[in-house]
Amino acid sequence: MANRREFISTATLTAAGIALAPLVACSQEKPAASAAAPASAAAKPFKGPLLTRAVPATGEKIPVIGMGTSGSFEVGTDAGGRAPLREVLDTFVNAGGSLIDTAPTYSTAEDVLGDLIADAKARQKLFIATKLSGVSGREEGLAQFNDSLRRLKTDKVELLQVHNLRDTAAQIALARELKQQGKTRYVGLTHYREDGQAQLADEMRQFKPDWVQINYSPVSRGAEKTIFPLAKELGIAVMINRAFEDGRLISQMRDKPLPPWAAEVGADSWAQLILKYVLSQPEVTVVIPATSKARHQLDNLKAGTGQLLDAKQRDALVAALA
Ligand SMILES: NC(=O)c1ccc[n+]([C@@H]2O[C@H](COP(=O)([O-])OP(=O)(O)OC[C@H]3O[C@@H](n4cnc5c(N)ncnc54)[C@H](OP(=O)(O)O)[C@@H]3O)[C@@H](O)[C@H]2O)c1
Repeated sequence: MANRREFISTATLTAAGIALAPLVACSQEKPAASAAAPASAAAKPFKGPLLTRAVPATGEKIPVIGMGTSGSFEVGTDAGGRAPLREVLDTFVNAGGSLIDTAPTYSTAEDVLGDLIADAKARQKLFIATKLSGVSGREEGLAQFNDSLRRLKTDKVELLQVHNLRDTAAQIALARELKQQGKTRYVGLTHYREDGQAQLADEMRQFKPDWVQINYSPVSRGAEKTIFPLAKELGIAVMINRAFEDGRLISQMRDKPLPPWAAEVGADSWAQLILKYVLSQPEVTVVIPATSKARHQLDNLKAGTGQLLDAKQRDALVAALA
């Protein structure tokens, strides 16, 4: 949770004139023209627009930095717990962020997210991805989805994913039925561990979803072998979870200086380098780091501007994190 000092720090950054530019679609291959390197790396401001990538099924452009809600948004009705999350959401929306991933089984996350989006009047700007999670059969799945809509305070979502390959045949059939009805625009499959990737690959071939979501980081690179090539072959968008290995990678590097080449790609934190690493895979559509702190949200958003990593820089980051 953000404490008072962190809240003031973010408010001060905003008051000092940090530009949180609206989303403007741009080529993923080139650095955004306005994302110039800062004079001082420590004070590097957010200068958008965020890079975007196209969903293969439709060509729709998605800003490359999304956000997760597992853990971070599971705060229930506690006003003290929700206050910093308003800042997290505002920072995201003001920077042009769009895709937010949640699930009905992340305890209160859908309720909190639904309330905060409604309060911020931000629904039209957002791409909400939720899941059919831990359910069996059509009726159970449908009841859960209708409850997700109620909790999220919306009448449709952008993406409905089958969570962790549970009851996939029945749940993806339901998701497709809901897509036909305009209740979701896309259907997807998710997993979160390397040992789930072989089954995910089989089910990508079998069910041909619009999206897959999988774990990927500089120390968990299994998706490079199976999921990314298959997504390219089948024209499936790719969402990346656990880029920070649940925060462990950043804790591990906290007291270590950044490599000298970080400035060359406009990065001033390990978090930005890790997210840029993930985004350097051309098959990746969006990465969804989760945070409960607005200053971390701003940090993560900065990774979606400017240059990504070349092959040498990617190897150097893998070596640094090994
Ligand atoms: N099977 C599935 O479908 C599945 C499974 C796992 C995850 N997911 C999705 O993926 C999302 C992301 O995964 P995750 O939450 O497990 O892990 P993650 O994004 O790898 O790591 C989250 C952790 O990183 C910290 N963090 C975030 N930004 C930071 C920054 N700039 N500097 C320092 N620390 C930072 C957060 O702490 P602070 O709050 O202190 O910033 C939090 O502890 C989830 O929220 C969920 O939406 C889906």
